[in-house]
Amino acid sequence: MKPAITAILLAIAGHAHAQQDAFAFSYRGMHLDVARHFFPKEVIYRYLDTLAVYGISHFHWHLTDDQGWRIEIKKYPRLTSIGAYRREPDGSTYGGYYTQQDVRDIVNYAAAKGITVVPEIDLPGHASAAIAAYPFLSCHGRQIEVPARWGIFRDIICPTDTAIRFFQDVLDEVLTLFPSPYIHLGGDEVPKHQWRQSDFVKQLMKKNNIKYYRGVQRYFTEQLERYVESKGRRCILWGEAVRGGASPRSIIMSWRDKYAGIRAARKGNEVIMAPRFYCYFDYPQYFSEKKPAFWMTYLTWRKVARFTPHSVWLTKRQNEKIIGAEATLWTEYVPDEKKLWHQLLPRLKYFSEALKKDR
Ligand code: ACM
Repeated sequence: MKPAITAILLAIAGHAHAQQDAFAFSYRGMHLDVARHFFPKEVIYRYLDTLAVYGISHFHWHLTDDQGWRIEIKKYPRLTSIGAYRREPDGSTYGGYYTQQDVRDIVNYAAAKGITVVPEIDLPGHASAAIAAYPFLSCHGRQIEVPARWGIFRDIICPTDTAIRFFQDVLDEVLTLFPSPYIHLGGDEVPKHQWRQSDFVKQLMKKNNIKYYRGVQRYFTEQLERYVESKGRRCILWGEAVRGGASPRSIIMSWRDKYAGIRAARKGNEVIMAPRFYCYFDYPQYFSEKKPAFWMTYLTWRKVARFTPHSVWLTKRQNEKIIGAEATLWTEYVPDEKKLWHQLLPRLKYFSEALKKDR
């Protein structure tokens, strides 16, 4: 190769290296929801390629939600044979899932690019697909369908020993597939209606002296948290899962705003900031676009560029608990790859830049 070209290439490589060094946070996450819309393995590869360019260190793979269970679990095949498919309003069937071999391939591909894949099994809410596959997981035990509309559903996991054992089995397979030090157990948006109507839950509360329904969520999550910790890993939980407390080893992902993260950092938990007004890439980014859903606001790249993971409400020591930040890409309104890139770019670049600031 000509010396001039070599010099230029080295300069570029050196620049990229210096940029990597400049990051102020060890956890630089990008998320993808593959439950609302499914993206084949090749798209995940391209997604990872792009994440690597911008120095993203963790790919948060949202594998389960109401509208689809997307990871093969050998012990419970109905999770994918039933839970990975939904009947659309037009009568067609929509779905898909990743085999365990797909998962291994993706984890290895990411690792080669320096990216850790963090799987999420969202519990006890956002779990309709699992309940459609195994109705005994809910408190009412009725057969339901995998929903084909968006929102927050009342069908949630019942905190029975059977259900807890079921998800420990699921986690056994997840922990084998993913070497990540972190496993995301979800915990967001859990309507408690069905627990309020359940005699089992009433008994459970009495027996364990639990006063509030958020304590029931804590009871459920704690057993999976302990299980994950007994295997030498740690859990990540969405902010509201912490209202009943959290293991001191769990990492809190603050998504509604920074406040859950601020409280968690004060209690000594590690925190990942993902406040929706700065980090939700499913929101439209140009004012010329129509807002697809009422819960969204506009998120321009200029606003992303102003994001700081740290908080002025925390001391220097408390701010050190903030190990990083994450941007999310929920896919209710992202049906295909074209829309995926539209939502991701150019905001990912500005998000990456924001993680170089430490204040
Ligand atoms: C979330 O956006 N429900 C975490």
